[in-house]
Amino acid sequence: MGPVIAVDGPAASGKGTIARALAQHFGLPHLDTGALYRAVALAAARAQVATDDGPALGRLASGLDLSLLEDPDLRSADTAQRASCISACPEVRQALLAFQRDFAAQAGGAVLDGRDIGTVIAPDAELKLFVTAAPEVRARRRWLELGAAGGLAGLAAVAAEIRARDARDQDRAAAPLRMADDAILLDTTDLDKDMAVRRAIELAISRLGPAS
Ligand code: CDP
Repeated sequence: MGPVIAVDGPAASGKGTIARALAQHFGLPHLDTGALYRAVALAAARAQVATDDGPALGRLASGLDLSLLEDPDLRSADTAQRASCISACPEVRQALLAFQRDFAAQAGGAVLDGRDIGTVIAPDAELKLFVTAAPEVRARRRWLELGAAGGLAGLAAVAAEIRARDARDQDRAAAPLRMADDAILLDTTDLDKDMAVRRAIELAISRLGPAS
């Protein structure tokens, strides 16, 4: 059995970059679980399903059209906000559970990133990282990723969106964003992308040994 690596953390903390780099370093498949919730949010928006209609959202998630993972609107701020609303529905989380658990159970191991990987999806993961950074640093990163749209007013809007999403993700009853008791905290506030990746790989090697 290969190792399972769980990477959790709030919006724009760098968890996606770190998860992709760990997957590449150890030759493991990677699943961005946030993209699944974003795809359900997009399907719901297009089918005009309300963000609190649990049963209808659950049905959309069960029959998720995976081509939505390539949709240009997947990464928009609007889809992110919607994703954090629909992901509070237990029906949605339940519908996406088996797919994520199966991905984590591959014989060769896997890397998954999200909010509840270390706590719910893969509680026995060999390595759990909880990646975070100060909210203003995360807001700036996401604003730059979105092309620094709207100047300083745009930055303020992204910061407000991230605050709202953090609060929603932490306060929901179903699988809230929480650091697992056995996770290692990686604070990337003062680290650039390369430094954060290097630190994550060092932590992984010290826990799992070098890539084989
Ligand atoms: O990339 P970013 O961190 O901004 O967001 P994402 O990982 O794509 O996740 C979008 C939203 O999906 C989050 O705000 C969460 O509400 C939800 N999500 C979740 O509930 N559980 C996960 N395992 C992953 C994402």
